Amino acid sequence: MEKEEKLMYKVLKQEGRAKRARMETVHGTIETPVFMNVGTAAAIKGAVSTMDLQEIKTQVELSNTYHLHVRPGDKVVKQLGGLHKFMNWDKPILTDSGGFQVFSLSKLRKIKEEGVYFNSHVDGRKIFMGPEESMQIQSNLGSTIAMAFDECPSSVASREYVQASVDRTTRWLQRCKDEMARLNSLEDTVNPHQLLFGINQGAIYDDIRIAHAETISKMDLDGYAVGGLAVGETHEEMYRILDSVVPHLPVDKPTYLMGVGTPANILEAVSRGVDFFDCVYPSRNGRHGHVYTNFGKINLFNAKYELDSRPIEEGCQCPACRHYSRAYIRHLLKAKEMLGMRLCVLHNLYFYNTMMEEIRNALDEGCYEEYKQKKLESMAAGPK
Ligand code: GUN
Ligand code: ZN
Repeated sequence: MEKEEKLMYKVLKQEGRAKRARMETVHGTIETPVFMNVGTAAAIKGAVSTMDLQEIKTQVELSNTYHLHVRPGDKVVKQLGGLHKFMNWDKPILTDSGGFQVFSLSKLRKIKEEGVYFNSHVDGRKIFMGPEESMQIQSNLGSTIAMAFDECPSSVASREYVQASVDRTTRWLQRCKDEMARLNSLEDTVNPHQLLFGINQGAIYDDIRIAHAETISKMDLDGYAVGGLAVGETHEEMYRILDSVVPHLPVDKPTYLMGVGTPANILEAVSRGVDFFDCVYPSRNGRHGHVYTNFGKINLFNAKYELDSRPIEEGCQCPACRHYSRAYIRHLLKAKEMLGMRLCVLHNLYFYNTMMEEIRNALDEGCYEEYKQKKLESMAAGPK
């Protein structure tokens, strides 16, 4: 397939900067704005299977290069036919490049021009990962979308450090692009149509971020992510950075805000032109009995739910709410029955995926800002 054929991303509607788009991939269509469901080690934590994902409106699953490289090994996954076959999921998969996970998981690491030296979080063994290695691993996994290998500098790093880091991330991006082109042309590549998204960095320095966005926009990538956010800065800083950066990224390519966030963060970022999201919140909170509703988040461990025979949310069509009460799920959580966690995670992911559907519908109808205000007000009103 020629390049023009492999990525078909079309903006269908715009309201202010907010965009409603459709992307055709070799693994099917993605309707955006979309929330990608995080399955770090090729599984959504909380005993959620890929069969469940079909039921809770998941469009894209997200896995991590670093975790799958360490265990079971990307070569093992390739021998078994690639990640789609391995985890029995035939829809789009995005793999994060490993850079961010190396920085967040490994205390002992050394960043050099060639890449990063670090110790495995599983057995402590020495590992090297650079742009080429990250692309090779992602190619072995055969994901639909591969992310560029980047450095996510600390939110408190000095301006000098951030500038030098961003310049290196740009050089790494060119190496990723070259390596991906080579890998996609090989005979035995799992997914020869693998796409590459670049990542904007620059911490909280708007001018560094804007210059970087302009540089990478010229590199003709399949999509553009804003990285290095939700790492300690305030929500206001994050929104300000999106206001500065997104206008310097191509509108006619996917715009992905990495690792974000709360429902309110997503609603605000959509207004600022973002249409791809991922975050561990719904699954992580679900595992702790914290569940989202249209009236805010509730903690099912709370004693007031002991005799509450209502579902988590009245009218919710998720597998938990269709069949079980708050009181029963609370009991499961307290008894440490795995089913308790599982039902909470299913509800939370369904809540996020349904909110994205509402966002798309509101954009289709040209009433996004009105929808957003209502949703924010309702969620802030507090639980019933
Ligand atoms: N996930 C959340 N933030 C980031 C980032 O800055 N880089 C990468 N690669 N992944 C992320
Ligand atoms: Zn539900």
